[in-house]
Amino acid sequence: MTKRFNDRTQSIATISGNAWLVQDRATAMVEAGEDILFLSIGDPDFETPAAITEAACRALRSGRTHYAPVPGESDLRDAIAHQAQTQSGTQTGRENVTIFTGAQPALFAIMQILAQQGDEILVPEPYYATYPVVALASGAHFKPVACLPEDGFLLQLSALKAAVTPNTRVLLLNSPGNPTGAAFKRKELQAIIEFCQSKDIWVVSDEVYASLCYDEPHISAWEFATHTSNTLENDRLIVVNSLSKSHAMTGWRIGWTLAPVDVAEKLLTLCEGSQFGCPQFVQDAAVVAIAENHPELLIMKQEYRARRDFVVNALNNIPNIKCTTPVGGMFVMADIRQLTSDCAGFAMALLEQQKVATIPGSSFGATAKGHLRITLAQSQVVLSEALSRIAVFSQHFNK
Ligand SMILES: Cc1ncc(COP(=O)(O)O)c(C=O)c1O
Repeated sequence: MTKRFNDRTQSIATISGNAWLVQDRATAMVEAGEDILFLSIGDPDFETPAAITEAACRALRSGRTHYAPVPGESDLRDAIAHQAQTQSGTQTGRENVTIFTGAQPALFAIMQILAQQGDEILVPEPYYATYPVVALASGAHFKPVACLPEDGFLLQLSALKAAVTPNTRVLLLNSPGNPTGAAFKRKELQAIIEFCQSKDIWVVSDEVYASLCYDEPHISAWEFATHTSNTLENDRLIVVNSLSKSHAMTGWRIGWTLAPVDVAEKLLTLCEGSQFGCPQFVQDAAVVAIAENHPELLIMKQEYRARRDFVVNALNNIPNIKCTTPVGGMFVMADIRQLTSDCAGFAMALLEQQKVATIPGSSFGATAKGHLRITLAQSQVVLSEALSRIAVFSQHFNK
């Protein structure tokens, strides 16, 4: 007898399509003993700051290995609320904060409670490659809104207005963005949020790269919340964040949402039935991460910035490759449209011939076609060698 599975999960199983072909091939090549330079991964190459790791070890030794409260430990929620209020000026309490095992499950849970069949979730494109699954798993329609390279890959209010229909339920923002590194300025973000609020559209703002803004301070959507922590609010605004990128803690799996209280209550029900709380010792370490200063973080950010400048400069010195400077995040987009529109073919050939793994822009939506995403999570030595190989390859590709 044929096995039966849930129709919705079946239908999203093939969504990522060919997005990871180059990455999968690179992994197979490594397993076959080849030496590959990976410019594809967004996993910080820095260690978690020592004081945070120490705090986790202390917590483990003192027996913090039991179930934790489902919405999160109170001291961690307080630390996050305090930080959010200090940075945004918006009154925030622990009742606005829900702890998740990373931003990813937080995004998943949010879409489950906000959207359903018949609704549209608008996502500026290029988008982070997991967004289609996150949106479609709710049953809603995933609707990309093109953000052109000529506009710095940033969502334009006019494009948003043109895309909105009576079925639009959620706008999922990501600033600074993966893969583009584009980030909103205050006026533009405010206009987009105000427009959405006037149309009863939820704004979900994924801010996992907030701490990696290199030229200007990060503008959080939370600034534009009008609610106070102890009222049932009218705002349709949720912020998602985590320690993955900001503190080089991808493997710790710790993130959170800032949301109106009624949303937090609904998230709690989902969390009860899914993650059932996050590890106590990880939450203890997260309090230290948030409440204390860690000199390593400044060093890390300065290094990312130096790498960004190095990569942008090197790419712009390669004939027929262009690159604009991302204002934040962990990636640079190399514009190879003068060489080819087939960035997936280019990336695969680059891997086969020069042993350099990148992610083709087409993995992040049609507007990123003709681009390669290059990570900043590699040392300047690796970046330098890889960029030399890209230069050689693109000259050959030209002929
Ligand atoms: C834009 C964006 N959102 C969310 C995530 C997932 O973050 P986390 O590790 O907190 O689940 C990533 C990871 O790369 C990301 O790039």
